[in-house]
Amino acid sequence: MHVSTADAGSPSDNTVPLRTDTVRVDLGARGYDIIVGVGLLDQIDRLITPVLERKRVAVITDSNVGPLYRTTVEAALSRSSITFETFVLPAGEATKTFGQIERLTEALLAEKAERGMTLLALGGGVIGDITGFVAAILLRGVPFIQIPTTLLAQVDSSVGGKTGVNSAHGKNLIGSFYQPRLVVADMAVLEQLPVRELRAGYAETLKYGLIDDPEFFTWLEAHGTDLLAGDRDARRHAVVHCCQAKARIVAEDEREAGRRALLNLGHTFAHAIEAEAGYGGRVLHGEAVALGMVLAFRLSARLGHCDRGDGDRLERHLIDTGLPARAGDVDINWSPAALIEHMSRDKKVQDGRVTFVLARGIGQAFTTNDVPDDALKAVLAEFADGPQ
Ligand code: NAD
Ligand code: GLY
Repeated sequence: MHVSTADAGSPSDNTVPLRTDTVRVDLGARGYDIIVGVGLLDQIDRLITPVLERKRVAVITDSNVGPLYRTTVEAALSRSSITFETFVLPAGEATKTFGQIERLTEALLAEKAERGMTLLALGGGVIGDITGFVAAILLRGVPFIQIPTTLLAQVDSSVGGKTGVNSAHGKNLIGSFYQPRLVVADMAVLEQLPVRELRAGYAETLKYGLIDDPEFFTWLEAHGTDLLAGDRDARRHAVVHCCQAKARIVAEDEREAGRRALLNLGHTFAHAIEAEAGYGGRVLHGEAVALGMVLAFRLSARLGHCDRGDGDRLERHLIDTGLPARAGDVDINWSPAALIEHMSRDKKVQDGRVTFVLARGIGQAFTTNDVPDDALKAVLAEFADGPQ
């Protein structure tokens, strides 16, 4: 982990008006804004100042994002006399470990972390999840701000306060609910995001349509390829729409006692696929979610909840947008027994029964733990043997 320190510079004069959309996450005293726009990193000082308790922050970023954006962020902080230290973690899912939490926490304490300083998560979902968790436990809690730099983080992980890391026993098994003070999503950074990462984020975008918004799914069928190709209006529409949807769900069910669980569509399968792949980048989280959503629709059809045609429609759109839709699209062992073993360790297991998000059609998701083992095995086996 690389650490750098800078003293605050001269006061800010960066008063250029920004065109932004703001979505409120309505959680009473813990409520916050999500600001979406283009060119926001350059004016990050101005955007974060209203929520800072003290003019001291720690920027947490990764080894890919740091070289691209830390200079811009640090220059903006200096302009407004905000003191900062920057901590750079290795990029990728393999960093989401308890060991990294300890290293980062100790590094912050070595730099004399104090209550009232704010952590800035500058990166994708990995940096957001780690920073949020460290913020929750450092000095029994310091504020943090999400500055998501992937599509996945802008449409999903930066909002809602789920923080944490993976365990040797499975995905996201260690963590806490801890809300950020602010989310600043600068869509300009998506221009630098590798296309594979962009597509992985698109899978989580699609999820909102599949859960309860069939019109949005239809809109994505029409505009998804433009969005992926760089159409700024399409990106803005999708990011703002997803943030609005997530803000509504989180405000209604912050701690996943009910409706929020629908956001886990495809995730029981996805987490098993990621565990089988080993978190080394062989299968990205969003790619696993794409496959998991296909499996959720197949399981729904097998159990008579929806038509097979709904899943076929989803698979066609995944293929059209270059996402994995078939077992052969990712390099893992598709053994049903191994995947079911991973699922048995899922957070959502109750009384030994795994909770699934299934669907009665596109935009009609529901949760159930009434899934017979033989149906689950049959769906996995058929998928593994199907067209590659
Ligand atoms: P990530 O953070 O690993 O980022 C993906 C890759 O893109 C990394 O290599 C990163 O360095 C690089 N990158 C990030 N921004 C970039 C940019 N602008 N330009 C170039 N490269 C850039 O992965 P992710 O897909 O953002 O997030 C996945 C993680 O999010 C998973 O761990 C998943 O469990 C978690 N997640 C959490 C929630 C939640 O509610 N907390 C929701 C969904 C997913
Ligand atoms: N990404 C799932 C959630 O935030 O609940």
